[in-house]
Amino acid sequence: MTENLTSACEYIERNIEEKPEIGIILGSGLGHAASGLAQPVIIPYREIPGFPVSTVHGHAGQFLFGRLCGKPVVFMQGRIHYYEGYSMEQVVLPVRTMGCLGIHTLILTNAAGGIREDLQPGDIMIIKDHISSFIPSPLVGKNDDALGTRFPDMTQVYDKEYIGILEAILTELKLKVTSGVYLQTTGPAYETPAEIRMFQTLGADAVGMSTACEAIAASHMGIRIAGLSTICNQAAGLGESLSHQDILDMSQKLSACMTEILKRFIVRI
Ligand code: HPA
Repeated sequence: MTENLTSACEYIERNIEEKPEIGIILGSGLGHAASGLAQPVIIPYREIPGFPVSTVHGHAGQFLFGRLCGKPVVFMQGRIHYYEGYSMEQVVLPVRTMGCLGIHTLILTNAAGGIREDLQPGDIMIIKDHISSFIPSPLVGKNDDALGTRFPDMTQVYDKEYIGILEAILTELKLKVTSGVYLQTTGPAYETPAEIRMFQTLGADAVGMSTACEAIAASHMGIRIAGLSTICNQAAGLGESLSHQDILDMSQKLSACMTEILKRFIVRI
């Protein structure tokens, strides 16, 4: 294991009472979803030796450990993005840290732009697959056999059973039930309309600047994955021009709904 990973895990283990079983990464504007944790142990990334620090507005940059619906969980309030200038290895260090702490399941959430015509702002899309071909792989470099195999299979990154559970929950909550393919770009610029048309042709349903790299790193470690995108805008050229503030506002509007979905999901896994 890399030195950073070992030292991060050791630091966290000294500070928490119970090891988490489920990790949840909260996307832009969704940080509030961690408020269901009673008396959480909060560990800011900046306190953890060797850890990258999130620099984006709307991302707090801390782990919250505690119990949600009776299960030991860890929330990441704020993630690290490749566009901040970190290497992919650094970007996925928090995911690997949660893996080393013992999570069996990772729930990935993000704010995304809708590419498929029926995906409108306010919808929640279950991620059934992703396209990561436009970003460097977090697995490039010497393989750490302690984490996973050199050539991991990516046929079913997003757990089929979890997709079924999420569909059932969206139905119960009388929300539109839809799933799709998420495409990750490096960002930080939003796409051009021509790029969105290309992504459409390639089979992408939604686009964003996170998640796929984290899913690859977690899948490499054998962690089961569930993914949810809050559709915050129509992708470039399909609607109005894009602003980070509008996207954050829409994401925050969906935060309460996402919290409810997360709780119902955690109870069932
Ligand atoms: N493109 C990229 N990232 C995003 C978008 C988008 O349209 N919306 C939210 N995050």
